[in-house]
Amino acid sequence: MYARARLLDAGNKPLLASKLPARKNLIFHYPYATTPCFLINLGKPARTRTQLKTAGNESYEWTGGVGRAGSIVAYSAICAHQLAYPTRQISFISYRAEAGTQNKQAEVIHCCAEHSQYDPAAGGRVVAGPAPQPLAAILLEHDPKTDELAAVGTLGGEMFNQFFAKYEFKLALENNGAVRRPVTGSAVVTELDHYCRQQVRC
Ligand code: FES
Repeated sequence: MYARARLLDAGNKPLLASKLPARKNLIFHYPYATTPCFLINLGKPARTRTQLKTAGNESYEWTGGVGRAGSIVAYSAICAHQLAYPTRQISFISYRAEAGTQNKQAEVIHCCAEHSQYDPAAGGRVVAGPAPQPLAAILLEHDPKTDELAAVGTLGGEMFNQFFAKYEFKLALENNGAVRRPVTGSAVVTELDHYCRQQVRC
C-alpha cells in the first residue's frame, strides 16, 4: 500500500466515477509524482478474480474494477517489457478501444515499442508480445456515497526501481531532482491527449 490519493479532475475538483468517459485514455501519476498510470472506464464490468503471476513467479489475485458498474480500472503505464512510458513529448503505450494493424484485439493496452499487449479487464495480464509479466495494477477505492475515487496502492510486479534506474537522469532534469517524490493527498487526472504531444499508433 502507498499513501491514499484522491483523484481530481483537471479543475482540481473530485473526479466522479459516474462522469468518467468510457474507453478513453486518462492519465495520472501515482505512487510517485514521476510514475504515470492509466485510468480507464472500460464501459462494461471488468472480469473479477483473475489469478496472475509476476516475472518472479509470485502469484497474486486481481479482484476487478471499481465504480457502480465495476468498470473502472487503473494500471501503471510503465511497460513491463523495457519500461516504455508516456512522456509529455511522446507515448508508445496506451489503451486501444479499437483493433488496429498490430493490435488485432480491441480493448487492450498496447505498447508500440515491441508490441506487448495487456488486458485491462483481466488485471493487466499479457495477451501478446515479449512482456514477462502483467502491468502492475493500481488499487482504487470508490466511495458509493460521494462517487469519488482514490488510489491506495499497487498490486503485482512493480517496475519502479528499474524505471528510476533507467530514467534517473532524465527524470531528475524534468522534476528539479525530485525523482522519487511520493504522491500524497491527491492526484490530478487528465486525458492522455492533453498530457502528451504525440501518441504513437501502430
Ligand atoms: S517496452 Fe513495451 S513492448 Fe518493449
